[in-house]
This record gives sequence, C-alpha cells and structure tokens, in this order.
Amino acid sequence: MNRHHWWRDAVIYQVYVRSFLDSTGDGIGDLAGVRAGLPYLKKLGVDGIWLSPFYPSPQHDHGYDVADYRDVDPVFGDLAEFDLLVTAARRLGIKVLLDIVPNHCSNEHPWFREALAAAPGSPERARFHFADGRGPDGTEPPNNWHAMFGGPAWTRVTEPDGRPGQWYLHMFTPEQPDWNWRDPEVAAEFERTLRFWLDRGVDGFRIDVAAGLFKHPELPDSPDPEADARTRDSVNPLAWNQPEVHDVWRHWRAVCEEYTARDGRERLLVGEVSVPTAREHARYVRPDELHQAFFFDLLGAQWDADAFRKVISEAMEDIAGTGSTVTWVLNNHDQVRTVTRYGEPADGSGIGAARARAAALLMLALPGAAYIYQGEELGLPEVVDLPDDVLTDPIFRRTGSRARIRDGCRVPLPWSGQASPFGFTSGAESAKPWLPQPEYFAEYATHRALADTRSSWHLYRDGLQLRAALHQLGEGTLRWLDTQPGVLAFTRGDDLVCAVNFGTAPVPAPVAGTPLLASGPCPPGVLPGSTAAWWIDGS
Ligand code: NOJ
Repeated sequence: MNRHHWWRDAVIYQVYVRSFLDSTGDGIGDLAGVRAGLPYLKKLGVDGIWLSPFYPSPQHDHGYDVADYRDVDPVFGDLAEFDLLVTAARRLGIKVLLDIVPNHCSNEHPWFREALAAAPGSPERARFHFADGRGPDGTEPPNNWHAMFGGPAWTRVTEPDGRPGQWYLHMFTPEQPDWNWRDPEVAAEFERTLRFWLDRGVDGFRIDVAAGLFKHPELPDSPDPEADARTRDSVNPLAWNQPEVHDVWRHWRAVCEEYTARDGRERLLVGEVSVPTAREHARYVRPDELHQAFFFDLLGAQWDADAFRKVISEAMEDIAGTGSTVTWVLNNHDQVRTVTRYGEPADGSGIGAARARAAALLMLALPGAAYIYQGEELGLPEVVDLPDDVLTDPIFRRTGSRARIRDGCRVPLPWSGQASPFGFTSGAESAKPWLPQPEYFAEYATHRALADTRSSWHLYRDGLQLRAALHQLGEGTLRWLDTQPGVLAFTRGDDLVCAVNFGTAPVPAPVAGTPLLASGPCPPGVLPGSTAAWWIDGS
C-alpha cells in the first residue's frame, strides 16, 4: 500500500496575521492572536495553517518586503512567541507553513543597504540587479521592463558621493529590490533561512512568486512592454519563468527531504506559480521539485458551469503524470472575496453568498488539496467602500489611485459583539483595527456563526468532516456525469456524487434521496438554483 502523503489532500487555512486576532490592543493581529485562535481552527477541522509574512519589515507591501528573514517583527511578536505557536499547533495536530519571499526583499534589508553604500561593480551590488542607465548621463532605465504594481521596474539611486548613479531592478515596488539569484551568496543565504525555520519545527513553506527569482542574464528589453504594463500577470518572458529556477526548487526539495529522513515528518513546498500555460505550470511540480503549486484558474473563473468545467478538467490533465495533486484556491489576500466576485448585488439579496457556498462545496469535493482564506468560512463579503485615505495597498498608490484591489479582503476578522472591533482586538474599547470594519460585520462574527447551524462556518466544518471521513477524497480523479446545461455533476471514488446548479431555477437532482450535505436548503429530488450538494449514490 502506498504511503499517504499528508499534503496531497490537505485543507490549509491561510492566516493573514495582521487581520486574524490582535492580542496586544494595537489594532494589528499578531502571533499570540493566532495561537489564541488555534482551537477555533481545530474545531473547523483544517489540516494546517499558512502564515502570511510576519518577519521584520517596513510593511510597504504588508510584509512581502522582508528586512530580516530570520526574525519576527515586534508588531507581530517575537521568536519565543513563534515557538509557542508552533508547539501549540503541533499539540493540536495542525501543520504550520510559513510564507517565504525569495524573489525580492525590503530596501531596508542590510544587504541592500550595503549595496547602496558600495561601489558599482562591487560584490555587495552583485547580490541585486544594479545596472547603468541608458541615454545621456544614464537618465533612462537600463531596459523597458514594467513593475507588476505599476510604473517602471527600475529606480535610480544616489551614489554615496551624492551623484545620480546606477539603477536597481524591482519587479514589484521600489521598496522591494529583486535578488540576483545568479550570485551564489543569495542561494546560500536562503538555504540558511530554510534551515533556520525547519529547525524551529515548521512543516513547510508557501513560496511567494515561485516563477520569479531568475531574470534573463542580459536583462534585454521586453518584446511587448505594453502587454507587460496592461496586466499584473507575469507575462514578460525575460523577467519570469527562466529555466534556472527549477534547480532552486530541486535543491529546496532535497533540503526538505533531508529533514524528513531525520524525523519522518514530511515537509511541504507549495509555490505561487503564475506562468502562461498549464504545461509550464506542471514543470514546477515534477517529482523532485515543488510538492504543489496553486492552481489559480478556478479563482479566475466566472460563475458559469462551462467555465468551471473547463478549468477543472484542464487542472486534472495538467497534474496527471506529475505525481502532484491540484491545489485549489477560491480566495486569498490578493483577490476580491468570492461572495462579492460572484455578484452579490448592492441590495445584499444573497445570491453571491449562495454561489460562494456552492463553490466551496464543489472545491471540497475535488481531488487534491484546498486552501481557505481566513473569513471565507464565515461567508465574509469584500468590503467595497473603504475610504481612500485608509487604503494601504501599494497597488492603489502606484496606479494613480485607479486599482482598489487588495484592502477590501484584508479587513480584520469579526469574532464577537455588535460593534467594531468585534472582539478582533483584546485591547481597550477604543482600540481601532488597522482597517475599519463595517457595521454589518456583526452578522458574520465567529461567535454568531458557531451558534447558527445554517451558517457558512457549519457548511465548511461539515464539508471538512465528511471529506476526512470519506478517506483520501483528495486522491484519484473525477468522472463527469451528463447533466442539463448550467449544471455540473461528477462522481468521486465509488459513490460520492457532487452536483452544482449554476442557474437560478431548480433542476432535478442527479441522485434520489436527501443529500449528505448541501450548500443551501435542498429537498429530496431537487437541486435549487445557486446550490451545490453531495450525495452517496444509492442512499
Ligand atoms: C504575491 C503575494 O501574494 C502578494 O501579496 C505580494 O504583494 C506579491 N507576491 C509580492 O511579494
């Protein structure tokens, strides 16, 4: 019998630390807050947590600008608190994944400061991408690349003697200089970081921008800079997805396996991989590379049966033969929440909420692993009316206030009570969460959700329990059943049937009898609109 690899069908809960639970009363969530929330997550039934970056950082991109990879920012706690969290999670059987950011660091990282203080051509500068500008006096950037968050990918520095000098590359914001992975010191430093956290007991890493790291060695102009500027996808073929990156993942996999060989605990590497084709995506999860890579096409699909069927089928084909499993995602800290994305109208009639619940039940029935973003289990909608002056997402600033994308899904969680801070912060009544919570968050508070068996929380909890009871639901494949247009149905294993009605009118259910679990009221023999259900065939 094959050994079961825990990660293949794991359900991981993404903790966006600054918005989960605040133990100190400063309005910002922290590691002690995460530890206090572990019993809640245990009750929900997740296999593990992924912690968004909590390392020392000036927070220009909420921790994705790391100034020290091997410590905790005082805002979030300290290493002793981190150790307590890992111990508490281990005791509850919850795996802990960290978010590692290898493509870029913070402009406050000591090595970048050293590079600024050093001369052009120095070993200190070689750890990053420094280059002379073009045009008279080097006033033009070294090439035509665009940064993902708006503007050029280059910033000019002032040399130590006060004169305008070289430029450095940053594929995100100017506060996030890109590492030069062709410098062996960079690779060695990241290996030290991996081992530092593995020695502290973590179960693996979510890898930020895992198709980044290497750039074309000559840094030539992009063939289509307009296309690069139009999208936040990594389309510039010279800046992303270079073949050398696969050697890094092979090496990291070997490091993880070294730890597994010591203590039998399997460590997981899950990559944030944005590449143009399914075939390219599959290359990242070859048996000696990353264990898994997020499959974002489900997240990108419109609420439409054909669109969902297409992305699910493609994902299954993509993964076949790699030895990995599909890693499904509907929400994360960079995207508008499903309830709102699926069309919750301003009158709050609930259609977006019903669709989001149905999508969740569909995702939990699919083969593979699933990631849940905090608040998704509460059915939280996106906060769409945050005033401009509270927005912190660098994309907003760098697109001339055009793109209001990522703050609305990062509003601190409601836990209890009728008014902000809804138990999010244990400090004084006057303590203000770092982003304002709307009054209607009261309806979604965890205390209320736990007490109401019709809440989204109960749907997720029941789905997770059944998934576990149905044994390795994450393994194997699915078989599509014939249905009428606008409905998807498939079987898993011998007898589980999952069906989703993407339309608004009821349709006959594909299986007689009462469903095992449904995302909304579901009488026997009928599948109402915007509803998903699971049945055991023959019941
Ligand atoms: C992807 C992360 O999910 C996002 O939040 C971050 O801004 C970028 N990578 C840059 O690190």
